[in-house]
Amino acid sequence: MAKKENKFSDYGMYTQAVHTGTDYDEGTGAVRRPLHMANSYKLPDDLSQVNYSSTDLLMYARNGNPNQHWLEEKIAALHGADDAIVLASGVGALHALFWTLLKSGDRVLYPNVSYMAVYRMFHELFNRKFGVDTVMVDMTDLEAVKAAITPGTRLVHIETPDNPTVGVTDIAAIAEIAHANGALLSVDNTFASPLNQRPLDLGADFVVEALTKFVNGHGDAQGGAIISNDIETMERIRYEAQVNVGAVISPFNAWQIFRGSVTFPLRMQRINQCTQAVAEWLERRTNITFVSYPGLPSHPGHALAKRQMKNGYGGVISFGVAADDKTVERFCAALRVITFAVSLGHDESLIFPQPSYDERILLYPEQFRKGFIRFSVGLEEPEDIIGDLDQALRAVGL
Ligand SMILES: Cc1ncc(COP(=O)(O)O)c(C=O)c1O
Repeated sequence: MAKKENKFSDYGMYTQAVHTGTDYDEGTGAVRRPLHMANSYKLPDDLSQVNYSSTDLLMYARNGNPNQHWLEEKIAALHGADDAIVLASGVGALHALFWTLLKSGDRVLYPNVSYMAVYRMFHELFNRKFGVDTVMVDMTDLEAVKAAITPGTRLVHIETPDNPTVGVTDIAAIAEIAHANGALLSVDNTFASPLNQRPLDLGADFVVEALTKFVNGHGDAQGGAIISNDIETMERIRYEAQVNVGAVISPFNAWQIFRGSVTFPLRMQRINQCTQAVAEWLERRTNITFVSYPGLPSHPGHALAKRQMKNGYGGVISFGVAADDKTVERFCAALRVITFAVSLGHDESLIFPQPSYDERILLYPEQFRKGFIRFSVGLEEPEDIIGDLDQALRAVGL
């Protein structure tokens, strides 16, 4: 599969979000392309040239489907990239990338704060099952990265802002360290989203987006993407991971996410603004022990975030309340507008406590070890979100 065609590449992101990959249906003239819920396609009469592990021919849904391909055009465009591969989930995309790039004996550096599945893959799976040398590093400390990397390290993987502490890592600086040692750099960009941050422009080799979050934005579909300009490796990912491991996205989920992606920049812009307002309010509220949001001057990564993020600082705030785990649960249950649920990046605000008994709690800075809550701000009125937080805090005596 060649470089993704983008007839709108000279236009701005809002125009590309509307038009790239969007086209009329040739059969009917409908202004929307259809949902193709087929898992198999008519074969050519001459089978001699067919490669059953390739994604070049529409043949079987695991080798690719039209809704996946149209979404891939859109996601590549949002990152100004040559190619994107859309898979069944964010974790499916992370796994496909790691599975393709790493083999026994390779060294990978991974962050001490990351999405849970990345921690699992490198803390207990890739190392124990396949003999990959996995090294946990504080990626916000460039000296620690320099000390941990060795010539020939295969991959450095980072996440910025990170889940769940919303720490910020210097993409350009880590790209330089990685490349000087012959390593590739992959960046999980889910918390930032492509409106706010485009790691390929800062020197990264691969980007992963959990499309389940801000890009879909409606809490009703799951998907993930790998984005890159390295067409040769992307072809290997298609062959080694998509076709032969199998985490391809269903046409229906691709269709849903495509629909969400059209309004993604508009929603993200509002989420940036609302989140900044809520973070500023939380910082002023009594009984709040800390607020971690890169848009606040008090955040240790604020100056860096100002340099590497555009348009805003994303939709997730981590904060602490002066309370034990049970009181935090009662606070979350007392909310009326904000939904008490996992995930992030939906139209509705979502809140999720990070209990003090989490096995990774000691990996986080000291202040995150008590009363720690992850909060994803949605599209509601910021005054209503603030009012809801305030009433629920009061309801549990805070
Ligand atoms: C930063 C980050 N990366 C990856 C994922 C995984 O995405 P999915 O749940 O679609 O597998 C998540 C999910 O919360 C996430 O927050």
